[in-house]
Amino acid sequence: MGMTVPSATESDQILSKKHAGYYAVELVKDGMVVGLGTGSTVFYAMEILAEKIKNGMKIVGIPTSYQAECRARAYGIPLATLHDYTELDIAIDGADQIDPKGNLIKGRGAAQTQERCVASACRLFVVVADASKMTSQLSAPVPIEVIASAATLAAKRLREMNGNPQVREGVKKDGPVITDNGNWIIDCTFAKITDPLALEIQINNIPGVLSCGIFAEFTGKSKIIIGNRESAEIMLH
Ligand code: A5P
Repeated sequence: MGMTVPSATESDQILSKKHAGYYAVELVKDGMVVGLGTGSTVFYAMEILAEKIKNGMKIVGIPTSYQAECRARAYGIPLATLHDYTELDIAIDGADQIDPKGNLIKGRGAAQTQERCVASACRLFVVVADASKMTSQLSAPVPIEVIASAATLAAKRLREMNGNPQVREGVKKDGPVITDNGNWIIDCTFAKITDPLALEIQINNIPGVLSCGIFAEFTGKSKIIIGNRESAEIMLH
């Protein structure tokens, strides 16, 4: 039995995520209230934030999920909630797909509802990712958080919009994934997403839906940071 050695591609991706996360932290200044997104790329930003805190920087983090909260606690990042702060200086979050205009698909980790609240409350929304997330047109299945009792109705509405909805099943848990907020996730494929903002609004208006994973409404206050093997660059701001 040998050790698992990361392939060249895996380590490239990890380096890219690290550089994107590290770059984002340069935008965080002493005294800021910082939204902490979900996913592995944000972990690298938290790693450096933790170092800066040890060196005397004062910030408060607002987590977007149990995952973000647990990791931030492990790093010793002081935390608060949206009850304490309804205006955030900055939020750093990942994405699953990014188009050239900065429209996003999020929600692989089922955290998009809290991520949307934090994105909405922040002045600057910083998206960190590696280049594999970039696409000419959004095409990934759209994660949609829905209250369990409305899942069948929502699926019907999504089919009427030419979507192909599937309830997300748990791994190491039988039946539907249950989100941090106690709801279900529907992943809905659309043949073509030509107008992300219109689709975002339409899905978010379905009764019982809390939030879909299309984030097109925040492009006006977004910075997209794409990491690579050596460094990171701002793709859009
Ligand atoms: C969580 O629900 C998503 O919106 C994440 O932000 C996204 O999946 C990013 O994950 P990675 O940084 O691990 O790619």
